[in-house]
Amino acid sequence: MVYALICDLPSKWEKKIVGAMNVTLLPGGVCAEISGVNLCRPLIDNVFSKIYKAWLGTGALLIRGQCLTDKQLLTFAKQFGDLEFPPSKLLSLMNSDSSSDKIPSHINVISNVVENGRPIGQLGAGEASWHTDSAFVEEPPAASILYAIEIPSKGGNTTLANMTKAWDSLDPVLRAAIRGKKAKHDYTYTSVGERRKDFPEVLDPREAPGPAHPIVRTHPDTGRESLYLGRRLNCYILGLSLNESEKLLDQLWKHAVKPEFTYEHVWQVGDVLMWDNRCTMHRREAFDKSERRIMHRAQVKGERPYFEVE
Ligand code: OGA
Ligand code: MN
Repeated sequence: MVYALICDLPSKWEKKIVGAMNVTLLPGGVCAEISGVNLCRPLIDNVFSKIYKAWLGTGALLIRGQCLTDKQLLTFAKQFGDLEFPPSKLLSLMNSDSSSDKIPSHINVISNVVENGRPIGQLGAGEASWHTDSAFVEEPPAASILYAIEIPSKGGNTTLANMTKAWDSLDPVLRAAIRGKKAKHDYTYTSVGERRKDFPEVLDPREAPGPAHPIVRTHPDTGRESLYLGRRLNCYILGLSLNESEKLLDQLWKHAVKPEFTYEHVWQVGDVLMWDNRCTMHRREAFDKSERRIMHRAQVKGERPYFEVE
């Protein structure tokens, strides 16, 4: 099946009415907003296939105004593939998972709220710098789906960056320098830069624990290539000296997060924002830690990243 892809989505998609459902390509072409759907109920095939087409076409979806239980969020997620566990469980760090028994094991609570002296979720209130989810495991999740339950009065915006656009527009010299190369990804630190319990400080990125993945990866469903950078901290390009690797990574990062590849999301309660970890990155700005922010996140299983040589 051939899907509409980012660069060739027709402009008539903006405001195209699909039955009661509306698909709007948001400015920048990095995220499609779906309206006129209620995710409480299973989506009929016809509606889901249009959502899926927009998903593969853009790499990110926004669906506002939802009111979901965890079970409903997981039912929605399951339509995109098998469910995946949160990162702490992927890394078998069961003890560091602070979610309570009331929360299903596939739900990842992203929150700064502390109850009875214990954080109810992950990532606190600080900045989460640019990353793609769980590049530090062998088979990173294909999709992450974040659902807003409580949000602060300001701050905490989440910005997405499209790595297919970044790869397509990368300087040919840099493209040649990384084609077929792999980078190693460190799992010592979380997305907000906190060292995971029981992992020693990383003094040399070459020694950091974690798998290597292709820096340019082929999307299994669209066949398109994207930059796959994981995160900047402790990344290392195999086969280069540490200095060469650092220099090349700095050049790639400078390009990858240019504003023209990004969409900044300002949250409302009831928003569902989902991104394709195989072809996007994201960051979250900090917010006032005295305010509450609670998101529930579902993850869809992915595959080992690969690069298909034509
Ligand atoms: C995540 C993440 C960003 C946010 O859940 O993977 O990076 O906005 N969250 O909380
Ligand atoms: Mn993340």
